[in-house]
Amino acid sequence: MTLAASFLGGAKSRLLPASIPFRYFAAAAGFHVLAWSVLLAAADELAVFSGGPGMVLAAIHLLTLGVLVMTAMGAAFQLLPVATRRPLTKTWPTRLSFWFLALGTAALAHGMAAGNALTMYLGAGGATVSLAVFAIVVADNLLRARDLPVVAAHGWGAIVSLVFFAGLGIALIADYDTGFLLDHQSIGLAHLVLAGFGFMGLLVLGFSHVLIPMFALSRTLPARPAWSKFCLAVTSVVLAAAAAATGQPIGLAVASVIGLGASGIYLWLMREALRTGMRKRLGLSFVLVKLSWAALVLCLGLGLALSLEAPVPHGAALFGFVLLAGWLLTFLTGILQRILPFLASMHAAGSGGKPALLSELTADLPLRIHAGCHLSAVVLCSAGIVTDTTILIQLGSVFGIAGALAFAAFTGQVVVRATSGFAAVRHP
Ligand code: HEM
Repeated sequence: MTLAASFLGGAKSRLLPASIPFRYFAAAAGFHVLAWSVLLAAADELAVFSGGPGMVLAAIHLLTLGVLVMTAMGAAFQLLPVATRRPLTKTWPTRLSFWFLALGTAALAHGMAAGNALTMYLGAGGATVSLAVFAIVVADNLLRARDLPVVAAHGWGAIVSLVFFAGLGIALIADYDTGFLLDHQSIGLAHLVLAGFGFMGLLVLGFSHVLIPMFALSRTLPARPAWSKFCLAVTSVVLAAAAAATGQPIGLAVASVIGLGASGIYLWLMREALRTGMRKRLGLSFVLVKLSWAALVLCLGLGLALSLEAPVPHGAALFGFVLLAGWLLTFLTGILQRILPFLASMHAAGSGGKPALLSELTADLPLRIHAGCHLSAVVLCSAGIVTDTTILIQLGSVFGIAGALAFAAFTGQVVVRATSGFAAVRHP
């Protein structure tokens, strides 16, 4: 049996009301436009960014919390119960978590842009409450799950990282006022490692075990390499976070090499899924997914080079940009353009109709515009960072805004079609 068949067996009984995952995806679409817009306004500060409040920090958190975490939460709340075959015990915490994250992110970004400590605390508090609710809901589901132990292990790793990166984030804000941290920049880097690789990275690596074989229609992936990859990834994150916090470049170099090893196994597993999958033509979404994998390797290679003090112009800002926009954002938008129509079709079927054709729920033109604009944005901004050329970063941000608007149009279209019962009407 393929993973898709076992994944989908009885899945409808574990679906959340459509409004829950879709509100996360719709909000992520809005924050996506906002993140690129704020970056446009801060284009002249990006290449030289090295922490501290301001527009760049606001843009970073509109992207990380508003788009990446928002998307990951919406997807996890919906897909985890389907993957583990254990429904969520209650749905109200998923609604609560959404409002805390949406309002918390908006307040945090506003406080960071304006340098306002109170708004930053309020926003950080809201985001942290949302993350805590997410951790409790996911932990409760994983504790009841017996299937998919590799995916569950990645989930536990992400939950532990969450506790630390949120704690360090709040400590960094408190440090703006009090200056109690011995080395603010080192703690900032540890926060980046735990949030970017430990939380988002482990979620991406874990969910890839379910989603990539499901979309490629391949069999379940072999367990041994998957466990090796998990152990290497966790070792790399723990070592990198400890080395960053204590200012040990050699530890960062070793962690980057271990991370490259974990990525090598991950990419081999993903290639196996695509090679053995029954569906060969995976379309534009997988072009983005494959490019995001290239960005992951590039990002870790860059991390290694920087920790060995290689002269990469504006390397720190480039590293953060390749991590967040190159790897994570490209991967999530690639996967989301498959998940959204897939969920919409299951909901349409669940509400009484036959499963809708995915092609009727997908809009090709906005996705093509998004892909072209997003990739142009990543290349232009990266070139702008390396050469410290504001106009290139501005141009890249404009492409980013255009791509985000196109993606929002796609998201809106799927949500409207799914919630208006379009599919059920077309297939009576
Ligand atoms: C509770 C949520 C969060 C809070 C309170 C928070 C807070 C902060 C603060 C105060 C800084 C400034 C560090 C400095 O001045 O050097 C920062 C930097 C940063 N954060 Fe967050 N953050 C949160 C979530 C996240 C998430 C989820 C991600 C990524 C997925 C992320 C990625 C980053 C990055 C890339 C930086 C720049 C690091 C650097 O300057 O080296 N943050 N964060």
